[in-house]
Amino acid sequence: MFWVKELQKRKLSSNCSKNDSILPVLIIGAGPVGLVLSVLLTKLGVKCAVLERNMTFSKHPQAHFINNRSMEIFRRLDGLAEEIQRCQPPVELWRKFIYCTSLTGSTIGSVDHMQTQDFDQSVSPVSVAHFSQYKLNALLLKQLETNGFSICTHESLDDRPLREKEILMGHNCVSIDATDNFINVTTSFLKEGKQTEKQIPCQFLIGADGAGSTVRNLVGIELRGEKDMQKLVSVHFLSQELGHYLMYEKPGMLFFIFNPGAIGVLVAHDLKQGEFVLQTPFYPPQQSFEDFTSETCKGLILKLVGREVEDINVVDIKPWVMHAEVAEKYLACGNRIILAGDAAHRFPPAGGFGMNTGIQDAHNLAWKLSAVMKSIAPMSILSTYEMERRPIALFNTALSIQNFEAAMAVPAALGLDPTIANSVHQAINNTSISTILPSTLQKTLLNGIFSLGRAQLSDLILNENNPLGSSRLSKVKRIFQEGKSLQLQFPAEDLGFRYCEGALVPEVESVGGHGPEPPGGRRREYIPSADSGSRLPHMNIRVLTQVKTKEATISTLDLISVDKLEFLLIIAPIDSSYRLAHVALTVAKEHKIVVKVCVMWPNGLVDGDARTKTSLAPWENYVDVVEVRSPLSSSSWWDICKMTHRGAILVRPDDHIAWRVKSAVVGDVRQEMKRVFEMLVGS
Ligand SMILES: Cc1cc2nc3c(=O)[nH]c(=O)nc-3n(C[C@H](O)[C@H](O)[C@H](O)COP(=O)(O)OP(=O)(O)OC[C@H]3O[C@@H](n4cnc5c(N)ncnc54)[C@H](O)[C@@H]3O)c2cc1C
Ligand SMILES: *[C@@H]1O[C@H](CO)[C@@H](O)[C@H](O)[C@H]1NC(C)=O
Ligand SMILES: *[C@@H]1O[C@H](CO)[C@@H](O)[C@H](O)[C@H]1NC(C)=O
Ligand SMILES: *[C@@H]1O[C@H](CO)[C@@H](O)[C@H](O)[C@H]1NC(C)=O
Ligand SMILES: *[C@@H]1O[C@H](CO)[C@@H](O)[C@H](O)[C@H]1NC(C)=O
Ligand SMILES: *[C@@H]1O[C@H](CO)[C@@H](O)[C@H](O)[C@H]1NC(C)=O
Repeated sequence: MFWVKELQKRKLSSNCSKNDSILPVLIIGAGPVGLVLSVLLTKLGVKCAVLERNMTFSKHPQAHFINNRSMEIFRRLDGLAEEIQRCQPPVELWRKFIYCTSLTGSTIGSVDHMQTQDFDQSVSPVSVAHFSQYKLNALLLKQLETNGFSICTHESLDDRPLREKEILMGHNCVSIDATDNFINVTTSFLKEGKQTEKQIPCQFLIGADGAGSTVRNLVGIELRGEKDMQKLVSVHFLSQELGHYLMYEKPGMLFFIFNPGAIGVLVAHDLKQGEFVLQTPFYPPQQSFEDFTSETCKGLILKLVGREVEDINVVDIKPWVMHAEVAEKYLACGNRIILAGDAAHRFPPAGGFGMNTGIQDAHNLAWKLSAVMKSIAPMSILSTYEMERRPIALFNTALSIQNFEAAMAVPAALGLDPTIANSVHQAINNTSISTILPSTLQKTLLNGIFSLGRAQLSDLILNENNPLGSSRLSKVKRIFQEGKSLQLQFPAEDLGFRYCEGALVPEVESVGGHGPEPPGGRRREYIPSADSGSRLPHMNIRVLTQVKTKEATISTLDLISVDKLEFLLIIAPIDSSYRLAHVALTVAKEHKIVVKVCVMWPNGLVDGDARTKTSLAPWENYVDVVEVRSPLSSSSWWDICKMTHRGAILVRPDDHIAWRVKSAVVGDVRQEMKRVFEMLVGS
């Protein structure tokens, strides 16, 4: 076993020295996932560069919900989370989803998605955010520039190799050649008006190139799941007048609008700026994308607003198709080609899992790539990336489908069943009918049936005095009351997701069976857990230093470094745990793994950190901290983790727990620590 690992190590490092011109990591795609990965890799000292097909960055707002877990990652990137919080609209303007017959007409219902506990810092040191994707991209680029990156737009790479820390715009990855030791990527770009090709060799290739991933297609990885669930048109427009009206009259993040003239979902990206995206379903080939001109879109918007608006400026109209699919595998060519983000999974955009899942893919991958580059782990550790992340993508796909159905519950209760719309369309689209009816007639028929459907929403039917209308309205009320409409926050899933196998020591007695519970589509609260594979629970702590200067309260999550490949061992200040830490540090060093020890002093019971110093000597990589208990719960750290203070927790560089022992280690401690570190890096 041992010599195999040595061999792999030598092979890898001899490659590195022989081919100085070979870029260690090449990332295809400068979307949020490619950019976050570039930041994380750079912080860990891994050299990388990015190729982007487009000459400019998209200004389409796209995703806009950043969940707690992504914000926790951003929080440790030079103030990125704080900058997002500073720039995002105030929470009062986006905490609600509103259901109405028109923006200026009557409100069918509204759901507030922020509960009182969402403002305390009990489960996470940082709140969720509402911030458009293009703005996030801009902040990520700024971070990269601070870290020495440059964005090259007019670079043709004529006679020089691609350098690290470059983002090459206008370069389309068109083919991939893999040998045993490296990958040759062919990029196509415009040079003096002529399409030109060039090869770029690299050790690892990351496909962060979005839902239509070229990398995925070139290596022949198939997607599994449900395709073409719904075709939509997404209309990006600006209107200060509408923004100001909503800001004062009915502020919200999403508006579900149903009226006899039109239906659609309006995403209010920024009410102050008056920036919106309207999503509306469409049914090709009877309805074609070309039908959605600037003018028709404006007409549609006015129908949904319900009154004249002077300043509507349609910026961009894009068709897009909703899928619920996950790549059959995330790795190819001996783990040298790796998919991340939308390239690996595409979900319905309900619940905001798309971008967040991708950001968390990058976080899982970054430290593992760094461990391989530093020869701490063999290439096989990358297999744990797929082992850990793919089940999460499958789970989030199922959850997004349920969310999408929850989103459809309200229109269905109003007599507007979208599944009926799809089957009506399928029937008309059926070859036997479409060969008889000319296409213009098919189109008229389809539009006729849809407007018949939408007529269900007229005030004549949808009012309390009409028996049908009143029964429908009370059905809708029940949906809201029971929390069965679309939710915004998913605490149990956003923070509570857990890896059951991978670069960790699995729990022997798995609590609550295997894997996550099936998704419910409804809000479930997060329950802190220190089971291996879980994210380290958050608790406020204070760092004890010899000189009592640094009194600031930080989170347990802040103990994990982003700029060092380092594991964290959390123990209580007792003799047996100090002995355990000693052994852990010794064994880790034999594996070239860096471990920092965190000694968690109980609230109010600090008898001097001098004890740690003498107990751990000669080791110096440790930090003494004291619990800051919340006035509400006053639980101790070990209570939160459901462990005794005789236990210990080993945390990976991505905040997930690699191993823990609930109470003292039984048996030979050295033997156990050897087993732990060997399982971690997969030797
Ligand atoms: C119109 C639209 C609306 C959306 N709305 C929402 C929403 O409301 N909520 C939500 O959660 N999610 C939404 N999404 C999904 C969300 O935008 C994605 O989940 C997110 O962008 C994924 O990030 P990524 O970095 O993986 O991929 P992307 O953001 O797609 O980035 C991929 C990048 O790779 C580049 N690229 C592609 N092919 C190549 C190639 N061959 N060579 C070089 N570069 C290449 C692309 O130009 C692009 O810049 C929306 C998506 C779209 C398209
Ligand atoms: C990026 O390129 C793709 C494919 O060429 C195109 O469809 C898309 O609109 C481009 N986006 C921008 C912002 O230019
Ligand atoms: C996000 O974090 C805040 C702050 O701790 C918390 O109150 C909220 O419930 C969290 N939301 C989710 C979805 O976990
Ligand atoms: C990789 O690209 C270089 C540069 O074009 C070329 O010389 C080399 O033959 C290629 N190698 C492989 C294995 O395709
Ligand atoms: C299409 O029509 C054929 C023959 O009339 C029928 O068997 C089939 O079920 C129809 N398909 C759909 C999707 O309506
Ligand atoms: C409608 O029919 C066309 C042509 O047969 C086909 O390409 C398309 O996929 C069909 N659409 C749906 C939604 O069934």
